[in-house]
Amino acid sequence: MKIALGVCGGIAAYKAAEICRLLQERGLSVQVVMTQAAQEFVRPLTFAALSGNKVITGLFGGEGEPNLDSAVEHIGVAQGIDALLVAPATADMLAKFAHGLANDFLSTLYLATTAPVILAPAMNVNMWQHPATLANLEELRGRGHSIVAPGAGYLACGMVGAGRLAENELIVEAVLATLDARIQSSSFERKHDLEGETVLITAGATREPIDPVRFIGNRSSGKMGFAIAASAKQRGAQVVLIAGVTTVPPPSGVELVRVERTEEMRSAVLKHFQKASIVIKAAAVADYRPKAIAEQKMKRQGTGSVTLELEPTADILGEISRLRTRQIIVGFAAETEHVLENARQKLTAKMLDAIVVNDVSQPGIGFESDENAVTIVTRAGEEQVPRMSKRKVAERVLDAVVELMRSRAGVS
Ligand code: PMT
Repeated sequence: MKIALGVCGGIAAYKAAEICRLLQERGLSVQVVMTQAAQEFVRPLTFAALSGNKVITGLFGGEGEPNLDSAVEHIGVAQGIDALLVAPATADMLAKFAHGLANDFLSTLYLATTAPVILAPAMNVNMWQHPATLANLEELRGRGHSIVAPGAGYLACGMVGAGRLAENELIVEAVLATLDARIQSSSFERKHDLEGETVLITAGATREPIDPVRFIGNRSSGKMGFAIAASAKQRGAQVVLIAGVTTVPPPSGVELVRVERTEEMRSAVLKHFQKASIVIKAAAVADYRPKAIAEQKMKRQGTGSVTLELEPTADILGEISRLRTRQIIVGFAAETEHVLENARQKLTAKMLDAIVVNDVSQPGIGFESDENAVTIVTRAGEEQVPRMSKRKVAERVLDAVVELMRSRAGVS
């Protein structure tokens, strides 16, 4: 799920960096939006490094360097987020929100989004207690926004009283509670259609060592497979998640098996295969590995070239297709050309029930990104899933799996 984190200009702006990190740790994707004043306190680079995403610094781009992909990016961001958190929220920003002013990216985003809003104010005690601020807060509370009230204590201005940004953990908890409520009330995520099923999911990249320090790997982050695992869990399934190397934390509540090499992934998949009723292989698995692994770090051979002899790894998907008893088996395909032809060919050759193909030559989807666009290919037909968050793509993949289960059972 994706959060926009609005950072306003106040001494507490530096705390937003830690909040950003905590949100990431909970598996959320964070899009940071900084006001101009916030940039006087913390550099956008800090948030870019923490979130792994470009930071939005203004309606029309930062100083001399446009940072927007389009003139209506606030609409794109507004539609793509599951919640808007503003921490710290200054008295000025609360006033803008309360009165519907839209003269910077954050206030414009606020008006443009229908996602729930969480506000964590921080300011001087007199500003916090001013009737204008109290009236604005009342108005915002009346709109259903969550207000994480500031704590009391010594303030940066030297005064003592209420106005200090609430503890980071409290703010993150408020975000998670809001997201939980959203998940409960949203129709697609309320499904419990995988109850009684055991879903085996692979995610992330495998690594094949060359020598003690080098390896053959790929850019898979694990985001796609983890999104499927989280959705399957949400829909009532028991989830066995076999994860290679990943860059994001796995979802909670699943049986997690960590592996590195293709052979380890193969053993883990074979071990858990028979208890699974559904298998979804979103991992990016090495097709080749070095024929021999050097015991010592390979030394540079002057200017001469070095040849690495590779041998094929086990085709795990092909192997489990041959072993299947009752399982629905779904593969993924990362293609850069002849996308659909290659996917259809893999569907038949590997005897799959479905294959989910992504064109990884397209920017902004596939490896590492928070979004994907796929085609779900089954024997019955093809369903195009346009660009959306990986969590939403995961839901569409699971919808297709449920459809396959129903048609196998003869239920229309
Ligand atoms: O992890 P992310 O950063 O979120 O990126 C997601 C993704 C791009 C990795 C994912 O969406 C995806 O496309 N995964 C499959 C990538 C891939 O390895 O495709 P392939 O066409 O090489 O393999 C086809 C299928 O065979 C895959 O299901 C793969 O898991 C499986 N395979 C491949 C090789 C092998 N030796 N054994 C296998 O089982």
